Amino acid sequence: MDLFDKHNRFTAAHVAEKAGVYPYFIEIGSGQKTTVKIKGKKLIMIGSNDYLGLAMHPKLKEAAVKAIKKYGVGCTGSRFLNGTMDIHVELERKIADFIGKEAAQLFTTGAQANLGAIAALAGKDDVIFGDRLNHASIIDGCRMSFAETKRFRHNNMEDLERILAASAPDKGKLIIVDGIFSMEGDIANIPAIVKLARKYGARLMIDDAHSVGVLGKTGRGTAQHFGLEKEVDISMGTCSKSFASVGGFISGTEEMIHYLKHKARALMFTAALPPSAVASISTAIDIVNEEPWRRKELWNNADFMRNGFKSIGYDIGISETPIIPILVGDDSVALTMCRMLLDEKVFTTPVISPAVSQGRAMIRTSYMATHTKKQLTRVLEVFNKVGKKLDIISGAPGSYYEKKKHKLELNARIRKGKAAIENKIKRSTDKMKIRRKNRKEKRRRKKLGE
Ligand SMILES: Cc1ncc(COP(=O)(O)O)c(C=O)c1O
Repeated sequence: MDLFDKHNRFTAAHVAEKAGVYPYFIEIGSGQKTTVKIKGKKLIMIGSNDYLGLAMHPKLKEAAVKAIKKYGVGCTGSRFLNGTMDIHVELERKIADFIGKEAAQLFTTGAQANLGAIAALAGKDDVIFGDRLNHASIIDGCRMSFAETKRFRHNNMEDLERILAASAPDKGKLIIVDGIFSMEGDIANIPAIVKLARKYGARLMIDDAHSVGVLGKTGRGTAQHFGLEKEVDISMGTCSKSFASVGGFISGTEEMIHYLKHKARALMFTAALPPSAVASISTAIDIVNEEPWRRKELWNNADFMRNGFKSIGYDIGISETPIIPILVGDDSVALTMCRMLLDEKVFTTPVISPAVSQGRAMIRTSYMATHTKKQLTRVLEVFNKVGKKLDIISGAPGSYYEKKKHKLELNARIRKGKAAIENKIKRSTDKMKIRRKNRKEKRRRKKLGE
């Protein structure tokens, strides 16, 4: 078997492309604000994680340029060896103070923070307890740790207690949850988790990728939201969402951070965060501290949209934050809907299987402090129009016909795409077989001295 057979068999993305509903790697030709430019057209962006609207902030840009002028464009090595600059260390102090922990460690991405910390802190004699809807980088970190990993039903405390109670008391235990779940937009039940962690002697880690800058009185995240900062052992955050740049961090005790510095492979064996990112993150933290109106506006906008979607009849699941999923059911409906939204100049992202189970496809939408009510009202108008056309929300005369027509059209396009791709695969497999046969024949003839 040829290793490359895998990619010859992978046709799903080509099928979606042929059907005109491929939703990934869309080229954006502008900076990310509440609007973006795609193929010269201006679209309202509701698929960004720039919750506080800082990605194009002049102060962040200025800080990045200044850092480039002084430190250059990269560190050309890992933090462990040649890549630690004074600004990295200063930023770590600032993050620790912001989160309210003794110390913090920067990583080059948020995903690497999860991989590095989890794999370093948990080992083969430990058990990790994770919510079923935890982020992929947590799941990968658990795999890399060699610890036994048990998953509990989403935010279900009975299920968490059941698996905690069933574990050997002498094992090291770590509970890991997203603070805000990145697709559903609900908040982990930290008060109940803290109680269970205490009862069963487990440590608690929160992935606050979507909560830093968003939750809590001063934006410290989920623990601050619940007034339980001291009860959380490990706070993970990213710099790629509210801080509008790239990077990740772990914060906790001095001793734990010291350990990670020498054991977290995803930190030690990769290049350090570039100076431009370090400087812009530092400025972002200043703005988060100085401009609480951004968090307030973010929540105003999120509430406005939650009420708006509900009032036009959408199912938004269990969202309670600026992440608002629109549940549409079928993968094909989600892909078609995203295409139709793009055509109406609204940028969103679909979430389809296997990221969610079959029949639970959604359009993930998320909001920024800087969206205007005019933009958001337009988004609701578009969703109203598209939802009626697809018969996802009721009230459209003839909508059943529209839905059927769309589904039939889509299915026909998918069938056509599939046939074309299957033909292509068959042709390349046939060619491969002929080449193999020729080679065999050549070898046979050579053997016979022909
Ligand atoms: C919950 C969660 N954790 C971790 C990450 C990884 O963060 P980054 O994109 O900064 O690597 C993400 C990114 O989407 C996330 O949603």
